[in-house]
Amino acid sequence: MKKKHFRNLWYSLSSKQRFFIRKLYFLPLDFSDKITGKRHKYVPPRGYIYTGTPANSNHYIKQGNHQLELLKTEINLQKNDSVLDIGSGIGRTAIALSYYLNASATYNGFDVVKQGIDWCNSKIAKDFTNFYFTYVPLFNDLYNNSSLKAESFVFPYKDNTFDKIFSFSVFTHMQIEEIQNYFKEINRVLKNDGLAFSTFFLYNDKNEDYIANRNGFNFPVKHNGFRLMNSKVKSGNIAIHKDKLLKMLSQENLELVKIIDGFWNDKLRDFSKKEYQDIVVFKKKN
Ligand SMILES: C[S@@+](CC[C@H](N)C(=O)[O-])C[C@H]1O[C@@H](n2cnc3c(N)ncnc32)[C@H](O)[C@@H]1O
Repeated sequence: MKKKHFRNLWYSLSSKQRFFIRKLYFLPLDFSDKITGKRHKYVPPRGYIYTGTPANSNHYIKQGNHQLELLKTEINLQKNDSVLDIGSGIGRTAIALSYYLNASATYNGFDVVKQGIDWCNSKIAKDFTNFYFTYVPLFNDLYNNSSLKAESFVFPYKDNTFDKIFSFSVFTHMQIEEIQNYFKEINRVLKNDGLAFSTFFLYNDKNEDYIANRNGFNFPVKHNGFRLMNSKVKSGNIAIHKDKLLKMLSQENLELVKIIDGFWNDKLRDFSKKEYQDIVVFKKKN
């Protein structure tokens, strides 16, 4: 079956069905990992990994280390920073951070999937008392059927708390009003000299047609300043026009520091690019 048809079929299932099928599919491999003792103690069984491609233990650790390297190089992550991981998932970044951050640092992560938060609390937070994971039961048509809305969610943290705020592959799975609200909240909880790092699928007038119509990973559903992959599952994947993103940041008194283009929309993969999605670094306006 073509990838695109598989994705549409996958998105047509409820989040509960998707979780169940994934667990069942990976049962034999997870069983084998268990008896051979191959899995790192913080890495979830493959059937639990609902974020990205379910990887084996080594690969999962590698992906997290890669994310850590990006945070070090692009926002100068320090060992004693106070950090917020928006959409912390099932701990991919947190595992790497648990080896990097020291005891005077604080890590906070929140997510709309309880299973991921429960896993992180029972494994990572149990060993690192400066790591906190919070479940927030917000609606997301890919992940959670709750009726609570992310577009009016107030982050459960005080103003000016964090040196660094980041989100990997989260604003690619949220609706535009929700992202706008998260920008507002990032401004509130980020310290005045803090930095934020988020990944997106960004496009411009030049490549809009290409990302709308290319085979496979495309965004055919047009809206004003953004495009969706699937009209029914709005959080399936969203791409945002660069100009729209800049306006959204500015509306919340945030300013762009830099954009690092990812290779997701390369016609021919540019191997000098570090990351699949586009990275946006931003800060509070002075
Ligand atoms: C592709 S996963 C990435 C997870 C993690 N950042 C990582 O790199 O492994 C996207 C995550 O965003 C979370 N998410 C979706 N909507 C959210 C929201 N409104 N607030 C916080 N997290 C959200 C999902 O539950 C999921 O864990």
